[in-house]
Amino acid sequence: MVAADKLSATAAASEWDDAQPYIRVNAVWKVFGRNPERVLDPQYADKDKSYFQGELGNVIGLQDVSFSVNRGETFVIMGLSGSGKSTMVRCLIRLIEPTAGEIVIAGEDITGMSDRELIAFRRNKIAMVFQHYGLMPHRSVLDNAGWGLEVQGVKKAAREARTREVLHLVGLGGWEDAYPRQLSGGMQQRVGLARALAVDTDILLMDEPFSGLDPLIRRQMQDELLRLQTELQKTIVFITHDLNEALKLGDRIAIMHDGQVAQIGSPEDIVLRPEDEYVGDFTQDVRLETVLNASKVMVTPKATVMGHQGPRAALHTIGSSDGDAAWMVDGQERYMGLLSITSAERALRAGVKRFDEAWQYVDREYQAVEPTTTFDRLIPMAMSSDWPIPVVDGGNVLVGEVHRSALAEALAETSGADQDYAANAAANAALAAEA
Ligand SMILES: Nc1ncnc2c1ncn2[C@@H]1O[C@H](COP(=O)(O)OP(=O)(O)OP(=O)(O)O)[C@@H](O)[C@H]1O
Ligand SMILES: [Mg+2]
Repeated sequence: MVAADKLSATAAASEWDDAQPYIRVNAVWKVFGRNPERVLDPQYADKDKSYFQGELGNVIGLQDVSFSVNRGETFVIMGLSGSGKSTMVRCLIRLIEPTAGEIVIAGEDITGMSDRELIAFRRNKIAMVFQHYGLMPHRSVLDNAGWGLEVQGVKKAAREARTREVLHLVGLGGWEDAYPRQLSGGMQQRVGLARALAVDTDILLMDEPFSGLDPLIRRQMQDELLRLQTELQKTIVFITHDLNEALKLGDRIAIMHDGQVAQIGSPEDIVLRPEDEYVGDFTQDVRLETVLNASKVMVTPKATVMGHQGPRAALHTIGSSDGDAAWMVDGQERYMGLLSITSAERALRAGVKRFDEAWQYVDREYQAVEPTTTFDRLIPMAMSSDWPIPVVDGGNVLVGEVHRSALAEALAETSGADQDYAANAAANAALAAEA
């Protein structure tokens, strides 16, 4: 049993060190039916799937699957119905037994564990969210969300305090005493998510968690997960058959096809550099702007001015860059706004000494983006402005700037997916730049 005070101590992995992937799956097979091992017997080396299924009655669910997931990464497994996604995630923690292969999580050999070790491991390290959230109808939201903690043996008071916290986190504060039937599908899914988050495990396995939801609610849940993940930094294995969902959520994506991994890569890799026809067909309709982001095209900020500086210093800085504006930053390099050359000149004429005493010269509404902001948001911003777009990190620290011309060039360059499309997009962006 795990005591309440050990709840947040699950990060202390035994033989795992940072240089290793957190989850490692090596040459895993899952064969259904009788005597599954025979499928791997060298005497059948020249036989294919239809032989096993037809002659022997063995279905090959997974065929030599390997991948690894880094700590804090969101790894998406994507594929059509029947491609083996659920089989893979179930094998990962031996809810079903892999026929062959090796699985190591946080330095622990899952494949070699006894049942008892396995149960303890799952309880402390893994939380799961499914499409059918499996809420218990006669338990309140609070008791449903606290169920994992109850199984861990956490005492009532500690359990309820923690559960209230996570219900709040997923936007269900105030619903503690309601029953599942009183909630919409989206809200029930949030309870499922809260239950998984409450146990505070390092690893979250999510098997098509948003599949049953309306498109709008689904997008909200995706945004919610992205927001939670920037905070929680869990290692997430997320399963979906929706390519757009995969591209939106995944740091990396594995495309599964017929029980095999067709390709593993970043969203950009998958869309721009498909390794085979299957993946190429899958991704051909994806718009480049939804995949390319600011990190691909941003450059070091050319001119920055600090709040304590005045117009003379600013004009000097702007003059020695090749632009006609500077970014205002504070002492911690945090982005404060845009200072154009004309505003700096006006400030000089008005006798301003330092800008942090004369904010009216700084355009503080001039919006910054993040490195992950995609081109479909950047392009309209770039078109409606004379200046580059500032890029900030999660702490609002200025980390780069994006020039309109770079957006057009990147679209033209990544023409691998669709030549005409990229040429048109580049031409449009260039025309807009001249206008
Ligand atoms: N218990 C089982 N016995 C026999 N075959 C099985 C069993 N479970 C799964 N399969 C087969 O394994 C293959 C992969 O199934 P799996 O459920 O992993 O697919 P999936 O990618 O999760 O599909 P979906 O998107 O529909 O959930 C399918 O051909 C399925 O019929
Ligand atoms: Mg499935």
